[in-house]
Amino acid sequence: MTGMSEDERFAPAAAQPAGAVARPRRPRGAKAADRGRLKIGDDWNAIRIIALSQSNPLKAIAEFVENSIDAHAKTITITRGREHGEHYLSIRDDGDGVPRDEDGKPNFKYVATHICDSIKRRLKTEGAGAGLQGEFGIGLLSFWTVGDQLTMISTGADQRSYQMILSKGQSGYSVSPRRVLFAERGTELKISPLLEGIRTLSGEKIQWYLASELRDRIRQAQVRVTVIDKLARKQYEVEPRAGRSPCCWSGRKSIVPS
Ligand SMILES: Nc1ncnc2c1ncn2[C@@H]1O[C@H](COP(=O)(O)OP(=O)(O)OP(=O)(O)O)[C@@H](O)[C@H]1O
Ligand SMILES: [Mg+2]
Repeated sequence: MTGMSEDERFAPAAAQPAGAVARPRRPRGAKAADRGRLKIGDDWNAIRIIALSQSNPLKAIAEFVENSIDAHAKTITITRGREHGEHYLSIRDDGDGVPRDEDGKPNFKYVATHICDSIKRRLKTEGAGAGLQGEFGIGLLSFWTVGDQLTMISTGADQRSYQMILSKGQSGYSVSPRRVLFAERGTELKISPLLEGIRTLSGEKIQWYLASELRDRIRQAQVRVTVIDKLARKQYEVEPRAGRSPCCWSGRKSIVPS
C-alpha cells in the first residue's frame, strides 16, 4: 500500500499521474471500509473454471503448438497412437525447452505455480518478448479437454530428462527425473488416456484444423508441423492454407468479428 492520503486516493482521475487507474469516487457518506479490491476467493476453484472454459480439443492442440513456436521450435510432431491399451496424443518439439531454474533444471514448478501469470507477458512488458503469442498462462490447462493426464518432458543443462505430471481435476503436480539414454532438446507433451470423444479425432482432422487456425503463425515462424496418425497409419504435413478465418473458430483467443 502506498502512503497516499485519503484525499489523494479519492482525487479525480484527471489529477492522477498518467497510467494510474482511475478510482471510483467515493459515494457521499461511504466509509473507506466499504471499498476494496476484487480478489479470488478460492484459487483452485478459479483454476478449475479456467480449465473447463476451454471446450474445444482442437483449440487445445493449437495452444500446445503455439507454445512450441513460442519456444522457437523449427520442427513439431503431433502423434496420435495407442500404447499399453491406452490412446494418447503427443506433441514433440525441438525448441528451447522449458525455461530452466538456477540449478539448470526445467523450471516446472514455475509453470505449475504461475497460472494466469505467464512469464511471456512479463517478457513482453520488459520488451524481450517479441514474437511470442502466449500471455495468459492458461494454455497448458486446456489438456483437460483432451485427456486425463498430461506429462510434460524437457531436458536440463545436465543433459538429463525431467518430467512434470498434471492430472485433470486434481490440484497437485509432480516432478521427477526420467531414465533415458539420450535426452533430446526441446519439449514433449503426452496426454493419455484420451477422453472418449477424442479417441476418434483423426490425424487428418488435426492437420486441417491447424492448417487453418495457425496458418499465419506457421508461415511466419517457418516451422514444420507434422501429424503422425499411428492408428490410421497415415502422416500429414500441416500446410498453411487459406480458408475460414481463424476468428470464425471457437476459441478463447479468437476475436469475434463484428
Ligand atoms: N513447448 C514448450 N516449450 C517450452 N516451454 C513451454 C512449452 N509449453 C509450455 N511451456 C512453458 O509453460 C508455460 C505455460 O504454458 P501456457 O500455454 O499455459 O501459458 P503461456 O504460453 O505462457 O500463455 P497462454 O495461456 O497465453 O498460452 C509457458 O509460459 C512456458 O514457459
Ligand atoms: Mg501458451
